[in-house]
Amino acid sequence: MHIHRLEKIWLTFGMAMLAVFLLILGLSAFTMGMDTPNSGHDHSVHAAKLSETPPFDHPAITQIGDREYEAVMTAWAFGYSPDQDQLVVPAGSTVHFSVTSSDVVHGFEIPGTNVNMMVLPGEVNHVSHKFDEPGEYLILCNEYCGIGHQAMFTKLIVT
Ligand code: CUA
Repeated sequence: MHIHRLEKIWLTFGMAMLAVFLLILGLSAFTMGMDTPNSGHDHSVHAAKLSETPPFDHPAITQIGDREYEAVMTAWAFGYSPDQDQLVVPAGSTVHFSVTSSDVVHGFEIPGTNVNMMVLPGEVNHVSHKFDEPGEYLILCNEYCGIGHQAMFTKLIVT
């Protein structure tokens, strides 16, 4: 098969660009160690070291005032900590959530409220909500995060 000289040049050029692109992609993945880049601002946390990083080493909900609670939570494939039987507050409580991920990007949505945020490894995201009505509030993941995504949820009980 005869290939025109110019065509050959362009073909070589294209191949070279592809090689350079793949090399850059590979190098950046390598230098980042496959970890999510850390933004470095004061909400950042090392995702791989959550189990030894307070307060995320002991995710919990604590009362910080009159009808005011702080919920320190972690999201992981595929669930949330602390366990749902611990997430109980009396009606009329404001809950300040601080949530981070120990692995991949997850979601944090409480249907029927304005609580809806992404949960990123390496970042701590915050949202607050006042729960006036007693009931079971579903907390679910709305970011596709793998095979167990559909089953990733927990509950907040407002008594
Ligand atoms: Cu976690 Cu989807």
